[in-house]
Amino acid sequence: MENLKLNFMDLDNVISNDVWKESLNENQKYLEHIIENLHELKNKNEAKEDIGWLNIDEWSNNQILNKITDRANYVQQTSDLFVLIGVGGSNQAARSVIDSLGVRKNGIEVVYAGNNLSSHYIQKILQYCENRSVHINVIAKNFETLEPGLSFRVFREFLYKKYGEEAKNRITVTGTKGSLLEELAIEYGYYFLDFPDNIGGRFTALSEVGLFPMAVAGLDIQSMITGAKQLQKELESSNIENIAFQYAVYRNELLKKGFAIEGLAFFEPQLYYFSKWWVQLFAESEGKEGKGIFPVSLNYTEDLHSVGQYVQEGQRFLFETFIHIQDKQQDLTIKKDMLNDRFDYLDNKSLNAVNDIAFQATLAAHSNDGIPCNRIILPELNEFYYGQLFYFFEFSVYVSGLILGVNPFNQPGVENYKQIMFKGLERSF
Ligand code: PA5
Repeated sequence: MENLKLNFMDLDNVISNDVWKESLNENQKYLEHIIENLHELKNKNEAKEDIGWLNIDEWSNNQILNKITDRANYVQQTSDLFVLIGVGGSNQAARSVIDSLGVRKNGIEVVYAGNNLSSHYIQKILQYCENRSVHINVIAKNFETLEPGLSFRVFREFLYKKYGEEAKNRITVTGTKGSLLEELAIEYGYYFLDFPDNIGGRFTALSEVGLFPMAVAGLDIQSMITGAKQLQKELESSNIENIAFQYAVYRNELLKKGFAIEGLAFFEPQLYYFSKWWVQLFAESEGKEGKGIFPVSLNYTEDLHSVGQYVQEGQRFLFETFIHIQDKQQDLTIKKDMLNDRFDYLDNKSLNAVNDIAFQATLAAHSNDGIPCNRIILPELNEFYYGQLFYFFEFSVYVSGLILGVNPFNQPGVENYKQIMFKGLERSF
């Protein structure tokens, strides 16, 4: 299968040829630095801080994949509902693929908790669990985050009430070695999966964190790794043609021109949760020290009937990255109808073709009006290309953060409200 592609619309209308070339050459040093890091990881297999995700070979290791698959098989055989308890990087990647591709083969249904503090929401999930055979997976890097900590308590109580001592076999915890979660797993007999300590939450899509819930849903995690690995081969070049590098340079050049908002636009709602993953990745990696591009999700065509007005005619500070899926596979033909509803121009048309015309029209209307547009082109949407999407954007945000002059791997700003909140909650440490 071929790799995903990047295509800029009328690039020279937005960034002059000279500036583009100069910027590519000037920033090439960052790409070289990343490739060097990748080679070091490959050769020494070192647990270099923050960038463990960069070397996919690590995650294609059979031992890890077998462990994930064995545990997923056990969960599938002993339960029919899986509650993923985690927030941010600890749930978004798995949720995006499971929601998009659905439950497959022997997979079981997945629901989500630990991602909010809503009593209404948590009680709804508890009720849903009532007549089902439940397994829970709490995922947390340090196990200090309030939402998953709170939900783990509530769902633990639920499980012990429902199953007694057998409850412990229905709990999988994903945490870093040496963390409190590991201690609890040892003490109470919960199954433990490794949250790699050299990877930050939002970069964990292709590790145990993201892959285990996907495997429980019956998705082909091997194919996801194969896709990412194939793209890694292409991106492993410090040539300025490197597409993840070009995307990063392009974004930073646009930012210099005042384009401070990037919309990830898509015409398949099945990409909605993926766009939430993308928003987190870019917002937490770049938005610091008064810098960065603000990422937003544009769920077209629905959002064309809301923010579409602003995009077309509002202030010129937004650019768009469209995800274009070439072969949508499932299609529907719109049948001729006897009723005179004045939609007969749709007779016998394919719904995919209609959606595609709407996509091409939006792209033309926006780029004709001075909105910088680019496309990420995927031959189809499946596990293989999700692997590529995760790796492409993680690689890009790494380059982009270096160009911007920030550390893409921390998120100090999320602590401020927590300090005030913990005071309110009378937490004493
Ligand atoms: O990217 C990150 O590191 C964060 O967004 C985390 O994923 C998020 O805060 C959840 O953290 P934890 O897994 O420790 O609960």
